[in-house]
Amino acid sequence: MDPLAPNPLWPTGKPPRQGLGLMRLRDPESPGATDPDRDPHRVVQAALDEGITLLDTAEMYGNEELVGRTIAGRRDEVLLCSKFGVVWGESGDFSVQADAATVARSCEASLRRLGVDVIDLYYLHHRSDATPIEETVTAMAELVEAGKVRAIGLSNVTVEDIRRAHTIHPVTALQEQWSVMSDAAEAFLPTLAELGIALVAHSPMAHGHVTVAAPAGVRAALTEPAARLDVTPLQVALAWVHQQRRRHTQPIIPLPGATSIGHLRANVAAASLELSDDELSRIDAIAAGSVDRG
Ligand SMILES: NC(=O)c1ccc[n+]([C@@H]2O[C@H](COP(=O)([O-])OP(=O)(O)OC[C@H]3O[C@@H](n4cnc5c(N)ncnc54)[C@H](OP(=O)(O)O)[C@@H]3O)[C@@H](O)[C@H]2O)c1
Repeated sequence: MDPLAPNPLWPTGKPPRQGLGLMRLRDPESPGATDPDRDPHRVVQAALDEGITLLDTAEMYGNEELVGRTIAGRRDEVLLCSKFGVVWGESGDFSVQADAATVARSCEASLRRLGVDVIDLYYLHHRSDATPIEETVTAMAELVEAGKVRAIGLSNVTVEDIRRAHTIHPVTALQEQWSVMSDAAEAFLPTLAELGIALVAHSPMAHGHVTVAAPAGVRAALTEPAARLDVTPLQVALAWVHQQRRRHTQPIIPLPGATSIGHLRANVAAASLELSDDELSRIDAIAAGSVDRG
């Protein structure tokens, strides 16, 4: 299947260039003391103003009501994504629930918290050992049929899960981590290309730790291009993930998280950075694990 074929979320065949992960978005603890750069409403408005319309949250993040408030009045501009299936326990642990009744109940609850009639892209957040993927995806397909969800996605699953799910209902996106510190997503690419599924590459800056926790070889490969381009090493790390889209010619949508307007704008700029072949090769060596990643 043509990996760039149109689908319900990008009918022109052109997927979004970059999304915004809202996992860390929180209401300010004391509204009077809010840093304007970190006001959640302003962060989301700035994203939409910059053309970043794919916004990603989840039931598990506990912020769907806040996300709903930040997009109120601009709902039509947003490609709204949420996820179900990971449930917090009382002692701070979590479990996976993906049976049909949970799918239906979770979607209703997310729609209510988000204050919307439909979720554009609804993901199973994590594979379940207890529920066959066919049961979960059949229930997700019923949500599409009912007009509550426009497209379905999977996250933290196996290649076999994707194939089994796709026989029940077309899967539009897989969300997996891809950064210079974690190349797990790469193994999915052939299957995604074959089935016409987009990769939403979450945590492309390794949760922001890429330059703090990384060993010297990793830091150097990022800081030298950063100095040349007058940007930060984190922007280079994000630019490297963007570069993968050019290499693989299939839909890859980097999903950095930011709760600061400054970070958001830096990440928008990173999408257009040009890394040289030498710079890319040095970073590739890290990503492939041939340089100690610590
Ligand atoms: N499917 C899954 O299982 C799964 C798992 C994890 C994450 N996700 C998704 O992926 C999104 C991103 O994940 P993530 O936040 O863990 O990782 P990330 O995008 O790699 O890193 C985000 C961290 O880096 C900081 N940051 C962002 N841009 C920056 C910049 N330009 N300069 C300096 N610091 C910057 C952020 O700080 P500020 O917050 O201060 O801006 C935040 O602490 C989440 O929001 C979520 O939507 C999905």
